[in-house]
Amino acid sequence: TKHRSVAIDGPSGAGKSTLAKRLAEALGFLYVDTGAIYRTVGLQAFRTGTDPKDAGAVIALLKDMEIRLAYGEDGLQHMYLNGEDVTQAIRRHEISDYTSSVSAIPEVRAFLMEQQRGLARSHDVVMDGRDIGTVVLPEADVKIFLTAAPEARARRRWLELQERGQETDFETVLRDVLERDDRDTHRAAAPLRQAEDAVLADTTDKDLEQSLTLLIQIAKERL
Ligand code: C5P
Repeated sequence: TKHRSVAIDGPSGAGKSTLAKRLAEALGFLYVDTGAIYRTVGLQAFRTGTDPKDAGAVIALLKDMEIRLAYGEDGLQHMYLNGEDVTQAIRRHEISDYTSSVSAIPEVRAFLMEQQRGLARSHDVVMDGRDIGTVVLPEADVKIFLTAAPEARARRRWLELQERGQETDFETVLRDVLERDDRDTHRAAAPLRQAEDAVLADTTDKDLEQSLTLLIQIAKERL
């Protein structure tokens, strides 16, 4: 039987991962965070001192990388890099920048594609990322483009980092958000953009619960 899929794309800080996870719970679907998959490549570049913009050097790293995704007893998605649980390590602030650079390399995207499609073939999924509705799952049953104003996204990211004890000032976070938006939307390979058949959901003036209500409504109307 064919599995159902909800594709959620959008810039960082729009609340995508939290909302996608909650939506998956509400629907009884598997939540797949594709940013985490890309982050393992960013982490590997960081750890090996590889320039994340040097496509040749990054591509050379791939052949020694075995990336696995598994769901823990906590129900959360864990990422394994050559057997090591890197779920926490990939969340560090420095890794975000590295990841955005390595993600612009077409060979990196091709390397990670099959894993993402395979999950959607074998499960009902809510999958979040940047190119899920446009490239990875163009036939998704529901496509949502989730966004919010840059300042709202930067504020949320900043609070998140504070909670994790990573001290940064707001201006730096905002600048990073804008730079990352720029890279993600202007890259040649699978740039971030709203699919023609995606529903736009703007969370600038909505709190988490209001946003979740909106997403559940959008999904249920279309599944
Ligand atoms: O979603 P998250 O912020 O964890 O993603 C980190 C980076 O990975 C993004 O800035 C983006 O460059 C890249 N990414 C991507 N395609 C995806 C998911 C993430 O290029 N499907």
